[in-house]
Amino acid sequence: MKKIIKNPAQILTINSDGQGFKRGTHLEDIGLLENHSIIIENEVIKDFIPNSRINKHKADEIIDADGKVAMPGLIDCHTHTAFAGSRANEFRQKLKGTGYEEIAKKGGGINTTVDAVRKSSFDELVKIVKPRIDNYICQGVTTLEIKSGYGLSFYDEVKLLQVIKHLNSITEIDIVPTFLGAHTYPREYKNDHSSYIDIIIKEMIPYVANHKLAVFCDGFCEKGSFTAKEIDLIFTKAVEHGLKLKLHTEQFNNIGGLQVALKHTALTVDHLEVIKEDDIPLLAESNTIAVLLPGVSFFLDYEYAPARKLIESEAIVALATDFNPGSSHISNMSLIMSLASIKMKMSMEETLSAITLNAAAALDLGNTCGSLEINKAADFAIFEVEDYSEIVYSAAHNLNCMTIKKGEVIYNKNRE
Ligand code: NIG
Ligand code: FE
Repeated sequence: MKKIIKNPAQILTINSDGQGFKRGTHLEDIGLLENHSIIIENEVIKDFIPNSRINKHKADEIIDADGKVAMPGLIDCHTHTAFAGSRANEFRQKLKGTGYEEIAKKGGGINTTVDAVRKSSFDELVKIVKPRIDNYICQGVTTLEIKSGYGLSFYDEVKLLQVIKHLNSITEIDIVPTFLGAHTYPREYKNDHSSYIDIIIKEMIPYVANHKLAVFCDGFCEKGSFTAKEIDLIFTKAVEHGLKLKLHTEQFNNIGGLQVALKHTALTVDHLEVIKEDDIPLLAESNTIAVLLPGVSFFLDYEYAPARKLIESEAIVALATDFNPGSSHISNMSLIMSLASIKMKMSMEETLSAITLNAAAALDLGNTCGSLEINKAADFAIFEVEDYSEIVYSAAHNLNCMTIKKGEVIYNKNRE
């Protein structure tokens, strides 16, 4: 099956010359191509041809991108999309001055959502989460990571991961599952941490890995959640079982999370709002990716991760929403791009590279998607703009008009 995406005004290839990620000044190079069309064959990109040669190609399908901008499908590489219930009441308290960590200390926060998830059946969860995935697809998202972490018992963590697996099978995009049993301590183990860690290590990780319910194991290393020592134990077990690693760390404190993640060569460290300046070179020298979540800083109204320093030190920087009911009730990719550029001072080009190629790399998919390179997946977002600068310029405005996954048009705004 041969297809052509015809005559876009611009193509942003985010070309990495086969590297699969970008560091430092390379983030600026978005591989802009004009007067070209794209040939797709068997779900992958086969060629970029000058528009003058388009008549020489016989295609089974022509996708008209006339006058619009074609770029790699967006990738949200850090989300907690699979949740039930609402924390609007806690948000109300937050507006009156009660802090996020204070709410959690009082038994609310993540555990409020755990209550709602435990009460929900598999079918109810699928019904709640599916429209959120559809909303991502409308925005041009073609790959989405979703974490568990709101079950926090063997039964409910497995239930959530099965919901995520099912959603992956019934939606057109790729959903990458992450096991986050170490999100926080569930109420029943509040005063018995070692028993909960035992359940994670002896029951959850082996089951999740054996049943291929997750690609990654993640944790939350902060005061009031898991210590670096506890994460060390969990990561050791996760690696034994073939899971790759991610860590929520340096969000509010520096308690050794970054060091333990680097010790285990975790693929990503996520948050980093309070990363110490002295620790930036450690991260920059490694291949561990810094996943920045400016939606959290906005939603909780505190400092932003030092994106400029990270990029200038040559750390690999990716962006994501962290969509969740407590610290970033935001699934709007356009808003994340605005926050990255306005609040973290990332250039338009850096922002676009970080939310495509480096986000793919944050899911260990940098060699198969995230940029438009020959033999990579034909995953595209087509934006209804003539110049790519409009994409970052428009705040919280979905300008995507067509989403293409593996060469298949899965969303077309003008044909709704
Ligand atoms: O990435 N802080 C840990 N986890 C999430 C928040 C989850 C929640 O509040 O429900 C985060 O910020
Ligand atoms: Fe998170």
